[in-house]
Amino acid sequence: MDLARTAPPPETCSTCGGDGAVFRVHDGRAVAEPCAHTRGCPSCGGSGRVFVTDERGYSVVRGCACGADPRRLALLTGLRLPLKFVGRTLDGYRPYRSEQARALARARRFVDEFVPQAAGTRALLLCGPPGTGKTHLLAAMLRELALRKGVRGRYEEFFLLLSDIRDGFSRGLSSREWLEPLRQVEVLAIDEIGKGGKNREFEQGVLDEIISVRYNAGRPTLLATNYPRPGAPWSFGAEGETRETLEQRVGQRIYSRLHELCDLVDVLGPDHRQDQHQKRELLDDQEAAHVATDRSAVEATPFHDSASSPGRPRSPRG
Ligand SMILES: Nc1ncnc2c1ncn2[C@@H]1O[C@H](COP(=O)(O)OP(=O)(O)OP(=O)(O)O)[C@@H](O)[C@H]1O
Ligand SMILES: [Mg+2]
Ligand SMILES: [Zn+2]
Ligand SMILES: [Zn+2]
Repeated sequence: MDLARTAPPPETCSTCGGDGAVFRVHDGRAVAEPCAHTRGCPSCGGSGRVFVTDERGYSVVRGCACGADPRRLALLTGLRLPLKFVGRTLDGYRPYRSEQARALARARRFVDEFVPQAAGTRALLLCGPPGTGKTHLLAAMLRELALRKGVRGRYEEFFLLLSDIRDGFSRGLSSREWLEPLRQVEVLAIDEIGKGGKNREFEQGVLDEIISVRYNAGRPTLLATNYPRPGAPWSFGAEGETRETLEQRVGQRIYSRLHELCDLVDVLGPDHRQDQHQKRELLDDQEAAHVATDRSAVEATPFHDSASSPGRPRSPRG
């Protein structure tokens, strides 16, 4: 009998929504931990590992279905997702426009078709104005790849990555050394490419090196940007800067490289952030009239996309 299937029904815990994992911030990073309820798991006793008998009759160790499997938690922590995005799912992404439906379908296809350890999956570049859910899709793809296929992924924000790399250089790291961990990760997501500082040549060089080294290793990179491809129906410029296309922003050579190596996907839709902001204000007004806020509510961030699961408790969000 497969012991991994005898865990309690997952709907029972209101802290984690049944996933067995919650995220806490340690040193500014979201770290996945087993939810307290898994300590009472009758299958694993909280260890997250169970012995099962495989097809050949051998006893083997497997991750417990309660979600406390240390390997699963390590994969989730290793994604280095911003806390706000740890619970984002593809099912929780709502396509308000046909472009978003296409982007969602492409994201699903990426996850479905990805074969761990097999080279050659094409990279994706999500382009769209602010608040259309690009980071949501990146986070959801990484999460699903980790959970469904055990894929080691990693999320990086380009701007922060640049400052890490500068730090590395100042500590004497060579470009080969800072590139190596980025090369090794199975699926790398780099958010907000094009968003940089004053040193364009350096920024473009970094992007070029990462994309090339990953391409040569046969590992896909997921990218997102606010800058439009030439001819796209929106324009973008960071505060105080002139509006540019992605081609102008990253330079013609790198743009054509991106074009060659990635599928470009427009993510166009309403600015969900503004939308949510208005809805929240409305809700806050209504709630303030009826109930006092429950301050004892769960501190940890549950793992599931509570936006897509209305029955679950609301979590603190950034
Ligand atoms: N279509 C959608 N369905 C459900 N949630 C969405 C959708 N679009 C955005 N959101 C939510 O709205 C918030 C903002 O979205 P997100 O940060 O992913 O946008 P973005 O495209 O990355 O914006 P930016 O370009 O400014 O980085 C997130 O909490 C995200 O989960
Ligand atoms: Mg974003
Ligand atoms: Zn729980
Ligand atoms: Zn268990």
